[in-house]
Amino acid sequence: WVTYAPYVKAINALKKERNAVILGHNYMTPEIFHGVSDFVGDSLQLAMKASDVDADVIVQAGVHFMAETSKILSPQKTVLMPDMDAGCSLAESITAAGIDEMRAKYSGAPVVTYVNTTAEVKAASDICCTSSNALQIVNAMESDTVIMTPDKYLAQNVASQSHKNVVYWPGSCIVHEQYTAKDLREFREWNPGTRLIAHPECPPDVVAEADFSGSTSGILKYVTDEKPEKAMLITECSMASNIADRLPEVDFVGPCNMCPYMKKISLEKILWVLHSGENEVLVDPTVAEKARQSVQAMIDMSR
Ligand code: 13P
Ligand code: SF4
Repeated sequence: WVTYAPYVKAINALKKERNAVILGHNYMTPEIFHGVSDFVGDSLQLAMKASDVDADVIVQAGVHFMAETSKILSPQKTVLMPDMDAGCSLAESITAAGIDEMRAKYSGAPVVTYVNTTAEVKAASDICCTSSNALQIVNAMESDTVIMTPDKYLAQNVASQSHKNVVYWPGSCIVHEQYTAKDLREFREWNPGTRLIAHPECPPDVVAEADFSGSTSGILKYVTDEKPEKAMLITECSMASNIADRLPEVDFVGPCNMCPYMKKISLEKILWVLHSGENEVLVDPTVAEKARQSVQAMIDMSR
């Protein structure tokens, strides 16, 4: 912590000078999450915050699609990305042509697109969703068949709880797809009494083996409400690190998987973009306008 202190001090001072805020995703490392973020949360919470926060500059401590979402919702603000290569395997799995392909295959079905996508893909979709509102949004569609892109596991997990015929694009998250149901069964056997909590980007048999599944904010709420003696979070490693000190009564145990994209963000890079103004995220205004309709439709349904 001591070695981080000069960076934290410099970043917090520069934020005031630039009238900037840092939006930190739950998967940021603790020194970013606790040390410099003004608002922390899951994808939905950060998108909603981007649209109503009073600031000239947003530094997105997260991945690129999150920064694009902030720019789409706040075109008048400067949005800075500490590392332009902080991508996402889901966002890279589909282009707008993929949406056209699905529309041609399932004519008339609405397209519900996960926010983990580029602005072009959002613009080609009817509405967005995050893992915290996906079921609600799919169920609210008028059509019996609903297209979900690009996460096949999120789609399968939604389908298992919905009366809709959910068809989907075959994308996946490289972090959550690594977990297997066998891992969870073995872990439970070796560590009886541990509560297993999985993100819905995990395969359905993993989710079925878990005690609870939810978005990163859903996971925080579940652990806060339930306060299990021991918990294993079947998600990105920083999630447990960030909430462990708020919940000293819970013992966070077990292995975790690291997101190589989220881990590209560091205090040094945040300081650099705040100082230099480099790495501004821009979205073509025509694309942004269409993408905004998809994101706003989701936000309106989630309030
Ligand atoms: P949340 O919306 O649950 O924060 O998920 C974002 C993400 O990228 C998970 O891998
Ligand atoms: Fe994308 Fe998975 Fe990383 Fe989230 S954890 S940013 S879904 S690769």
